[in-house]
Amino acid sequence: MFEHVDPYAGDPILSLNEAFQQDPRTHKINLSIGIYFDDAGRIPVLQSVRRAEQQIVAAGGPKPYQLIEGAANCRSEVQKLLLGADHAALREGRVATIQSIGSSGSLRVGAELIHRYFPDSAVWVSDPTWDNHRAMFEGAGLAVHTYPYYDAAGVRFDAMLDALRAAPMRSVVLLHACCHNPTGVDLTQTQWLALIPLLRERGLIPYLDLAYQGYGEGIAADAWVPRAFADAGLSFFIANSFSKSMSLYGERCGALSVVCPDAAQAERVLGQLKFAVRRIYSSPPIFGGQIVARVLGDPELRAMWEAEVGAMRERILAMRKALHAVLCAKLPGRDFSYFLTQRGMFSYTGLSAAQVDRLREEFAVYLVRSGRLCVAGLNSGNVEATAVAMAAVMSA
Ligand code: LMR
Repeated sequence: MFEHVDPYAGDPILSLNEAFQQDPRTHKINLSIGIYFDDAGRIPVLQSVRRAEQQIVAAGGPKPYQLIEGAANCRSEVQKLLLGADHAALREGRVATIQSIGSSGSLRVGAELIHRYFPDSAVWVSDPTWDNHRAMFEGAGLAVHTYPYYDAAGVRFDAMLDALRAAPMRSVVLLHACCHNPTGVDLTQTQWLALIPLLRERGLIPYLDLAYQGYGEGIAADAWVPRAFADAGLSFFIANSFSKSMSLYGERCGALSVVCPDAAQAERVLGQLKFAVRRIYSSPPIFGGQIVARVLGDPELRAMWEAEVGAMRERILAMRKALHAVLCAKLPGRDFSYFLTQRGMFSYTGLSAAQVDRLREEFAVYLVRSGRLCVAGLNSGNVEATAVAMAAVMSA
């Protein structure tokens, strides 16, 4: 019956994480998946989140189906988080937002809308990008191309602009709003401001992915790009996630927002997003949205959360410095300054797939085969061993 069904080749990130779980070596170090671990190597439960959960559970109540578009208070808090509470686009009712199943769910729902209403549009993703971006859009029936983004010398901004200038009108351009995954290298504000007129002139459709809000500079600072786009009057999609920023990975809570030219179009877009959701998974889960709405909406929990995100960001910076220091000591004369300048959870090490394989097989240090290292998996107990292993592999 199912003999013709192909075996699954596995996922470059999630399968690696599973392999790590199966690895019996006790000294193993997981720097593969994009998850923030604390200094004890645990996934933290944020105090702000725990308090919100306790309040929700104490209030009790039934668990009806959530609305297709998600909870109204969660959606409006998300809009304020992304654009700032006073943004004209919010006052004018021009933003269509749905709660979604992580930002992956929102990427896919947005892709459905694009496939239906912009059937001739292909999607352009950065080279490199998150391993799953291509599959997400191709899964919705869209063609996916790449634009140059980064090489060992840094961001290839001119080549990126050339590629986007040559892309057909109404092409969709996927952009990482902060903490680019996998490189950890973002455009500068000057570069973003140079990109905006090109997006406008070519009628391109920006699709922002904001999965690491708070891990770059801060909660509001990391929303600079969507705010700049909205200020410039662009219409665009933005998928955002609370997996990393609230350490809510398994609750699968994110949102999709579409900033539209006017309220009437936003209403239609919202309607079609609902139609897409109903056809794929019907409605989002309740609990994650309740947590998000409460943490963002309650001033005390909000302040607590922002401080907790700040502490996570600081710890990652400390680990960047620690890794940098040991590597510089082990391999003097080599330039490891990229560990200090790259932002967010990831560093792109430039290690080859063969070097990454050796790290895993010989030293039980797990990186993604692209050479992406999750700095948020380092801690004071494993950073030295990681640097020693990397130095051994790099000097071979
Ligand atoms: C990652 O890039 O490692 C994370 O976003 C987790 C995932 O789903 O790939």
